[in-house]
Amino acid sequence: MSTARPLLDDAAVVARIFDHIDHETTDLGEAVWREPVANYRSPERLAAELALLRRRPVPFCPSAALAEPGAYVAREAAGTPLVAVRGDDGAVRVFRNACRHRGTQVAAGSGCARAFTCRYHGWTYGLDGSLRHVPHERGFPGLDKAQRGLVAVPSAEAHGLVFVAQEAKASFAQELAELPPIIPARYRFVGASELEVAANWKVFLEGFLEGYHIRSTHPRTFYPIQYDNLNVVESFGPNNRVAFPYQAIEKLRSVPASERSADGRLTYVYHLFPNAIVATFPGRIIAVALEPLAIDRTRQVTYALSDRAEDDRDAQTALESGARLVDSGGAEDREVVCSAQRGLASGANEFLEFGLFEGAIGRFHRALHAALDGER
Ligand code: FES
Ligand SMILES: [Fe+2]
Repeated sequence: MSTARPLLDDAAVVARIFDHIDHETTDLGEAVWREPVANYRSPERLAAELALLRRRPVPFCPSAALAEPGAYVAREAAGTPLVAVRGDDGAVRVFRNACRHRGTQVAAGSGCARAFTCRYHGWTYGLDGSLRHVPHERGFPGLDKAQRGLVAVPSAEAHGLVFVAQEAKASFAQELAELPPIIPARYRFVGASELEVAANWKVFLEGFLEGYHIRSTHPRTFYPIQYDNLNVVESFGPNNRVAFPYQAIEKLRSVPASERSADGRLTYVYHLFPNAIVATFPGRIIAVALEPLAIDRTRQVTYALSDRAEDDRDAQTALESGARLVDSGGAEDREVVCSAQRGLASGANEFLEFGLFEGAIGRFHRALHAALDGER
């Protein structure tokens, strides 16, 4: 990730948005991209993509979901059950979520625990993964408990996210240090949810990465408060950030440029290559992993965070109505995305064409091609 460039600050993003509003323009990609439909339908391509997801650092969950010692998050990443947990020493560790007796998962969902006890026969592991207790241990003569702790996978915390690289040989904290700030430390974890979507993970991801569809797909949700086809699109390494301004950004015209904050004036959608999204909303951030399950099925895992006080009724009411709007818009996105998925099987298209307004998608595919070629 040495190619990472710094992202614009809020004032520069807002200035670019005002320029687009005034000239009825938007950021343009460098070229049109044509992605072969076969790359969405091939089991071999999906297998290579999953191998890539296991090899490189990918976001697993927000740090805020592991706020205190014992806090854990368990889920499958690229088909592998993993559990991340903050230890008593404050460090986050990620383990393969499989008991060293016969493989049952030792944790599910998210929560806080003092130890992980396997529900099959009760083998018990410490937060550091060490095997602490084996019921009726005399049944395992010669068992070396020191060798049968949970199996760790390399992980690192950076900018409010926990990254894992299941098959990394060494630590990758250094390369993550080059990422920009993503989730401010003041955000607290509010909850996680999962959803299965009948679409290829790339078809689903593409829906997050452009604002060309705002008016057509979201006529009664996002379009009334945003703009159609008006975005600031930046890239950093293989990652992207797309800014979706709200019409309320106009109020910033009277604010001195150096004091302009994007907070509550636009949504930033960070695409963290290959399969993670972090999106900002007023008082709320969601971190999303798009987990490929099959060529035409994806699990969306969403972690919601907020910086608004829990006892502030007005703030909570505003958060709830904001979340409802985003949920409605998200349902609209899933409808068009699943429809596009069905279109892949129609035989109509040999390739999908991404225009100049969809430049972040072209960059994603170019980066994915390069990463997969590099694997061979
Ligand atoms: S499989 Fe976990 S204790 Fe037997
Ligand atoms: Fe959308």
